[in-house]
Amino acid sequence: MNVLIVGGGGREHAIAAKCSESKKVTKLYAAPGNAGIAGLAECVDISVMDGDALVKFSKEKNIDLAIVGPDDPLVAGVADCFRNAGIKVFGPAKNAAIIEGSKAFSKELMKKYNIPSAAYEVFDNADDAVKYLETAKMPIVLKADGLALGKGVLICNSLEEAKEGVKTLMLDRQFGSAGDKIVIEEFMTGREVSVLCYCDGTHIKPMASAQDHKRAKDGDKGLNTGGMGTFSPSPFYTEDIDKFCMEHIYQPTMDAMKKEGRDFVGILFCGLMLTEEGPKVLEYNARFGDPEAQVVLPRMKNDIIDVMEACIDGRLDETDLVFEDKAAVCVVLASDGYPEHYEKGFPISGLEAFDDKEDYYVFHAGTKLDNGKTVTNGGRVLGVTAKGETLTMARENAYRATEWISFENKYMRHDIGKAIDEQ
Ligand code: AMP
Ligand code: GLY
Repeated sequence: MNVLIVGGGGREHAIAAKCSESKKVTKLYAAPGNAGIAGLAECVDISVMDGDALVKFSKEKNIDLAIVGPDDPLVAGVADCFRNAGIKVFGPAKNAAIIEGSKAFSKELMKKYNIPSAAYEVFDNADDAVKYLETAKMPIVLKADGLALGKGVLICNSLEEAKEGVKTLMLDRQFGSAGDKIVIEEFMTGREVSVLCYCDGTHIKPMASAQDHKRAKDGDKGLNTGGMGTFSPSPFYTEDIDKFCMEHIYQPTMDAMKKEGRDFVGILFCGLMLTEEGPKVLEYNARFGDPEAQVVLPRMKNDIIDVMEACIDGRLDETDLVFEDKAAVCVVLASDGYPEHYEKGFPISGLEAFDDKEDYYVFHAGTKLDNGKTVTNGGRVLGVTAKGETLTMARENAYRATEWISFENKYMRHDIGKAIDEQ
């Protein structure tokens, strides 16, 4: 099969690595890919948002399967472009990706179908939002309705902060039209877990659980980022919790989307809070997480193409997902200053140390080739993943492997997966 991966981050590198293990794949392409993906796939400089150009390229290269990685093209309907052109595609249609694209939509869906989540109200007018806040319990959570690079969520400890938040989202429009509508939500406490599920429109199968570390600095301090590291599995996600989630969250979400005429085919990423009252949905995403994919996929034993084809063909119920018992930890190597100001273009050395080592992976996120040399080209540069018999061992292995890599302004957190030992 000829397979095209749409995207160019660490998540897409992890998907490409898994595809390259498949017996079914003869040739891999990526648009636009990156310097790491270029070791596995032929990279072509087409924007992830350019559905027409992606379809034209796919026809020229006889692509048998396209896999759309990031949220923006899915929410914009790029998977529909492939499907309408008769090209098999893994990724939800626009009318289903709205589950990530609009928080108001997802909250209304959960309310309508009794899926556990935080209590909320939706506002499209700043005055009404402020009036509501004046009688609400603090802390409280404000969320921009639309996509905001994972930064449209504000946790406010006082009425003052909350009013300021409404101004930031709705009046100053820091996230543009994404904040024209906002969700105001009850603040929940508990452990967070990410569970990524394969979906075929009717059936849903969860993968191994994971947890990410979103803040830039050790001890969960600093600004929110796209994710500074992940581990899998989460020790807090027990079999009982999995059973509860299957019964009250995963399958009901599949059924709800079907009832709404929005069959969901692809990856449904459930961000969960394990509260004292039981698991509740924090958010849905319509794709693999980044960097959750970098710890979950290396543990998956199935041929990823088999699983994706089963989703597309509506026969996921015939597939058993199998994960290694080993744990995995991914430490993101970033450019110092991320997520604010940082420099790019520094040569990276030590990548070849990973070539001959089983259970060690270096996934490229922000890199590019410059005269044949790999250089830094983003805030998140690399994701170093290692497996181990236990989470502690996986973490030790991952941190040892981070030392093999050098580049100017290399920055990482030192406590990825660590909190779990102390709790
Ligand atoms: P989201 O993009 O909706 O997952 O929100 C980003 C982060 O904000 C989550 O990972 C949580 O840490 C936090 N968060 C979102 N909603 C809530 C909530 N209702 N209560 C507490 N924390 C929340
Ligand atoms: N790591 C969180 C996300 O991919 O949205």
